[in-house]
Amino acid sequence: MKVAFFSAKDFEHGVFDPYNARKGHVLRYLDPHLNADTASLAAGHDCVCVFVNDVLNAEVIEKLAVLGVKLIAARSAGINHIDLEAAKKNQVAVVRVPAYSPFAVAEHAVAMILTLNRKTHRAYNRVREGNFALDGLLGFDLHGKSVGVVGTGKIGQVFARIMLGFGCEVLAYDVAPNVSVREMGVQYLPMADVLRKSDIVSLHCPLLAATRYLICEETLDKMKPGAMLINTSRGGLVDTKAVIEALKTGQLGSLGLDVYEEEAELFFEDLSGQVLQDDVFARLLTFPNVLITGHQAFFTSEALQGIAMTTLDNISEFESTGDSKNRIRGK
Ligand code: NAI
Repeated sequence: MKVAFFSAKDFEHGVFDPYNARKGHVLRYLDPHLNADTASLAAGHDCVCVFVNDVLNAEVIEKLAVLGVKLIAARSAGINHIDLEAAKKNQVAVVRVPAYSPFAVAEHAVAMILTLNRKTHRAYNRVREGNFALDGLLGFDLHGKSVGVVGTGKIGQVFARIMLGFGCEVLAYDVAPNVSVREMGVQYLPMADVLRKSDIVSLHCPLLAATRYLICEETLDKMKPGAMLINTSRGGLVDTKAVIEALKTGQLGSLGLDVYEEEAELFFEDLSGQVLQDDVFARLLTFPNVLITGHQAFFTSEALQGIAMTTLDNISEFESTGDSKNRIRGK
């Protein structure tokens, strides 16, 4: 198939090209995000290959359909950026990568916990400046602490297992509890109890209408005072302004974000020479107890390899059968 590959990064060429040599698709790497202004770049292609900050609303999908695009191939698990109803209406199929490396994301969540707890981000800078003072670096033993997991799917399960290995009590909330997770030693509780009892809460559920602002003023008030919140899932799960207020009062003890609700304007780009225009994000950066990474939880070589292989397999399967096992049926 002829594929317009939007939001392409240099590191992706080296992963997609070798595998595509066996698949034979024509990949046209395009730097811009897909949106209403750039959709015309898809002219002459049967497929658009997109990532998490490409915009696939009804307007864009209609434009793609008029241009003859038959397939949207998401190189991600989350597809909250794609209007599935519009895709169905315009007869554009949607495929995704349901799983690549749950370890990549779960391990990144753990890295954020360890950093925020033991303040290695601050220690790194101090030691390089010859400052060996320990004031302000006090952490706590993870062993024996309660860790709440919201969403015990592929990533949440791996995360839960790692935290059990640290000797934590793992509590969980999921709309569909999983027997094998319970057998692992995880205790399912109502969401309010998970928030009330946990020293650390890590979000691993998808962004849906029902989960938007899952963490807001009301739920932050229910959390254990001084608890740590980790979000490696999707920015829209957290009301950032409410979180800033909770950090200011100390109700929230620390925050690790790999995703941010307005990340499309920031992440994946080098903006180091520019003035930051997002005042909410700028305020977050002032807290010593906030750690932000730019949507890199998925970024391991194993995960990239998995994304490339499944994406190209999805496109090949759709080309030869008109369908794919990783097709999203829509509403
Ligand atoms: P999954 O589909 O295997 O698991 C999601 C779990 O959330 C399911 O068990 C589901 O029942 C549960 N869930 C659904 N609605 C819920 C609700 N209202 N409350 C609590 N739980 C709910 O998904 P997977 O692979 O574990 O991924 C989770 C999320 O991680 C993805 O949706 C994606 O947004 C995010 N992600 C982030 C990445 C990053 O680089 N930061 C990379 C990959 C995924």
